[in-house]
Amino acid sequence: MNYSSSAQFTLAARVLHWLMAAMILTMLFIGVGMVASVSERHDWLIRIHKPLGIAILILAVVRLAVRLRHPPPPLPVDLPPLQKVAALASHWLLYALMFAMPLIGWAMLSAGGYPVMLSESLRLPPIFPVSPVAFAVLRHAHAWLAVLLFLTFLAHMSAALYHGLIRRDGVLSSMTGIRLR
Ligand code: HEM
Ligand code: HEM
Repeated sequence: MNYSSSAQFTLAARVLHWLMAAMILTMLFIGVGMVASVSERHDWLIRIHKPLGIAILILAVVRLAVRLRHPPPPLPVDLPPLQKVAALASHWLLYALMFAMPLIGWAMLSAGGYPVMLSESLRLPPIFPVSPVAFAVLRHAHAWLAVLLFLTFLAHMSAALYHGLIRRDGVLSSMTGIRLR
C-alpha cells in the first residue's frame, strides 16, 4: 500500500537526516583514516574528528527533539510485522549510536587525561575521571560501536533501497521528499 501524499517527514527532519548522514559517514572514514596512519601529516584528521563529532552530538539533541515533537509518518499497513519491528529497532539503535559515539569519544579522551580541544583555544571540560583502565575500555567501545554503526547503516540503506526500488511504497520518498511516478 502507498503512503498518502502527505505522509512525509517534516522538512526539519529531512534536512537533519541527510546532513547528519553525510557527517556521520565522514566521521567513520576520518576515524579509520586517523588510526590507520601514524604520520603527523594526517594530524588534520583528528583536528576535524573532534569538533565534527561534537557537532553531531548537538544536532542529535535537536533531532531527537524534532522527532518527539513530530512523530514520523506511519509505515505502510501491509508491511510484515517483523519488518516494522526491524525498522523501529534499527532507528532507535541509530539514535542511540548518534549519542553514544561522540559521548564515548569525549569520555575516552577525558579518561586518558587528554585535553578535548575543539579548536586552538576552545577546550571542553572532562566528562570522565582520569583512569587508564576506563581509557582502554572506552577506546575499545568507541572502535566496536563504530563497526556496529557502519553495519546498521548498511542494513538501513539496503532497507531504504528495497522500499524505494522494489516495494515502491513511498517510504524512501517520505525521507527524500522526491516523489517519482
Ligand atoms: C558520530 C561520532 C563519531 C564517530 C562516528 C567516530 C568514529 C570513529 C572511528 C571509526 C574511529 C576509529 C576507531 C578504530 O578503528 O580504532 C575513531 C577513533 C577515535 N575517535 Fe571517534 N568518532 C566519533 C566521535 C568522536 C568524538 C566526539 C571524539 C572526541 C571528542 C572522538 C575521538 C576519537 C579518538 C581520539 C579516536 C582515536 C582512538 C585510537 O587512538 O584508537 N570521536 N572514531
Ligand atoms: C549514517 C547514515 C544514516 C543514519 C544515521 C540514518 C538514520 C535514520 C534514522 C534514525 C531514521 C528514523 C527517522 C528519524 O527519526 O530521523 C531514518 C529514516 C530513514 N532513512 Fe536514514 N539514516 C542514514 C542514512 C540513510 C541513507 C543513505 C538512506 C537512503 C538510501 C536513508 C533512508 C532513510 C529512509 C527512507 C528513512 C525513513 C524510514 C521510515 O519511515 O521507516 N538513510 N534514518
